[in-house]
Amino acid sequence: MTFQQETIFERFLAPIFENFLIDREALLAYSRRIDWEAGSARFRRPGLVIPAYYQSQNFHNVKGGYLNVDAAVTYDAIIQYLLPPNETWVRQELIGAIQCKPRRILDLGIGTGTNALMLKQAFPDSEVVGVDLSPYMLVAAEDKAQTADLDIEFVHAKAEATGFPDHCFDLITASLLFHETPPDITQQILQECYRLLTVGGEVLILDGNQEALRQMPWLMDLFEEPYIRPYAEADLVEWMSAAGFGAVRTHPVWLVNQLTRGVKSISHSAFGFPSRVDGIMAVSY
Ligand SMILES: C[S@@+](CC[C@H](N)C(=O)[O-])C[C@H]1O[C@@H](n2cnc3c(N)ncnc32)[C@H](O)[C@@H]1O
Repeated sequence: MTFQQETIFERFLAPIFENFLIDREALLAYSRRIDWEAGSARFRRPGLVIPAYYQSQNFHNVKGGYLNVDAAVTYDAIIQYLLPPNETWVRQELIGAIQCKPRRILDLGIGTGTNALMLKQAFPDSEVVGVDLSPYMLVAAEDKAQTADLDIEFVHAKAEATGFPDHCFDLITASLLFHETPPDITQQILQECYRLLTVGGEVLILDGNQEALRQMPWLMDLFEEPYIRPYAEADLVEWMSAAGFGAVRTHPVWLVNQLTRGVKSISHSAFGFPSRVDGIMAVSY
């Protein structure tokens, strides 16, 4: 894997961000307020092997990617400018597309937790669990949840092998994760989603619009994103269908993003009757 040496961000945007868009003092204060090493030590799961595809790459020009305090400290300050026209509107598309009344929600690649917080606010009676491979991102997410007084569980795990039991979530979400995972891992994550969902459960994926990325390849040169090209060349609808999901639909979100939804379709008993799983009557789509 070769690293992109000079991204558009490095050549043109970094000085704009550094001089005009990022409040350095606020970020420094945030960085100092939290004991990142102690916090991350609480989350680190002994025995969890961090995969090579994750730790061998730089993401967003941050050396060492997400296994790094800087990535967690700067993430929110930068991402707000990368989800046009408005971060909250883009994220709200995912929340608004949820059709079930979830009892247990899993957010994969939770990052600093913005989507997980919105999920908990939208479904206050549900349990929300967030998974991430970076203990530093989990520290940032936990801090945000505590500040907002929202009860969310944080787990240090791989999205492709979470270790949760079968059928224990009725909604699984992932935002801005799949353009950062190699295609074989993305397909494993979708299989894991299928395993974890109750029958009738929903999966919702918010990420870069694959067609738009193919039409405007310069978008892929904005940041150091080692796996974005194979992501753009693929078709998430096909991958979700191959993982077993039914009623898979995708639509653009403000042109540069897309929201893809699938359902773990009803399973039928040997006599052709719909089955009940975890007390939820599965619905046919
Ligand atoms: C671009 S950030 C997205 C964060 C958040 N979902 C959001 O919408 O802002 C991608 C996140 O996925 C995490 N991640 C990447 N690969 C992962 C994997 N295989 N398992 C768990 N987390 C992963 C990264 O550590 C990072 O926090």
